[in-house]
Amino acid sequence: MSSNPLLAPLTLGALELNNRIVMAPMTRNRASAEGVPTDLMVQHYADRAQAGLIVAEGTWPSAAGQAYSRQPGITTPEQIAGWKKVTTAVHKQGGKIILQVMHSGRIGSHKIKPSGVETVAPSAIAARGKIYTDQHGMQPFDTPRELTTAEVKSVIEEYRQAALNALEAGFDGVEFHGTSGYLPMQFLCCETNQRSDEYGGTVEKRARFAAKCIEAMVSVLGSGRVGLRINPGNSFNDAHDEDSAGSHIELLRQIKSLNLAYLHIMRSPLPEIDAFKLAREHFSGPLILNDNFDPEIAGQALRGNMGQAVSFARHFIANPDLVNRITKSLPLAAFDRKTLYTPGIKGYNDYEKAI
Ligand SMILES: Cc1cc2nc3c(=O)[nH]c(=O)nc-3n(C[C@H](O)[C@H](O)[C@H](O)COP(=O)(O)O)c2cc1C
Repeated sequence: MSSNPLLAPLTLGALELNNRIVMAPMTRNRASAEGVPTDLMVQHYADRAQAGLIVAEGTWPSAAGQAYSRQPGITTPEQIAGWKKVTTAVHKQGGKIILQVMHSGRIGSHKIKPSGVETVAPSAIAARGKIYTDQHGMQPFDTPRELTTAEVKSVIEEYRQAALNALEAGFDGVEFHGTSGYLPMQFLCCETNQRSDEYGGTVEKRARFAAKCIEAMVSVLGSGRVGLRINPGNSFNDAHDEDSAGSHIELLRQIKSLNLAYLHIMRSPLPEIDAFKLAREHFSGPLILNDNFDPEIAGQALRGNMGQAVSFARHFIANPDLVNRITKSLPLAAFDRKTLYTPGIKGYNDYEKAI
């Protein structure tokens, strides 16, 4: 029996993990142009099935929610069938895999969406910056159309349907993507949410969209199969909030009674926010800690009871056998930044296992 706490089994809600090494979600743009998971993805995730839990990459619940070219969706029968191949391959290796559901809101360009699909957001405020598209190269972010109140409720239904589709695709659960300036954060942050209906104005109303989406997913999967990912203070994709810690605390207050399977908490980029402490104080379930951990620091964090599991993103890119390497204290390989988002096998499925 190893004394490395990363290798101890763990229960997260209804999920029984073989170890506490979680593969963090990573957008790698290897789906088809229509967002259908490919055989490359089947191999990629199967190769990493030793992880106690894989959180599969941010995946759109509706065409309007697609941010990136070759980013997968979970809406069409073809997408569900593609994901089914992924989950079957991971389960065959004894792994667990859940899907990160991600609606990008204003982070996108209509040029990568099917014709007639608009970019939508809480308010008609464009994000500063550009986004890469396969067809037209770099494009400025669209100025989004403001969702009507009825449409906000429809988007919440899209999350519910995405959870049902994930179940049909064989996933063990879903993770709600609440970070990185995508739609839920656009509702949460005061700068991007200028609404005056029940989804904007006070912090309670700004947090409501995310809470209602999570509630909708729990209604179909049960709380033990739904997790939440947050990153207080994150300003990626032009997301700004005058009191990010306070907004996240309000969100955690609203979802408290749901008893989610876990909270996936990232370190805050703001020195004044201790995100792990905030999570421990305002969330009573298990924590998956993330951001810039190496195996040794991760082990120390678990020994110190900072959380129950640690997720690794970048280390999993070039080390498909990361769990084996940690178990045997083998050196970790470095990944190639240039092939992170390029189509094809290179930099995706050609990293070797150590032994
Ligand atoms: C290539 C790449 C793609 C990513 N895609 C996502 C994503 O789809 N969803 C998400 O929540 N985070 C995403 N992230 C963030 C990672 O999950 C993780 O939080 C970050 O890389 C820090 O963890 P690390 O230090 O172990 O790499 C991505 C990171 C990388 C490097």
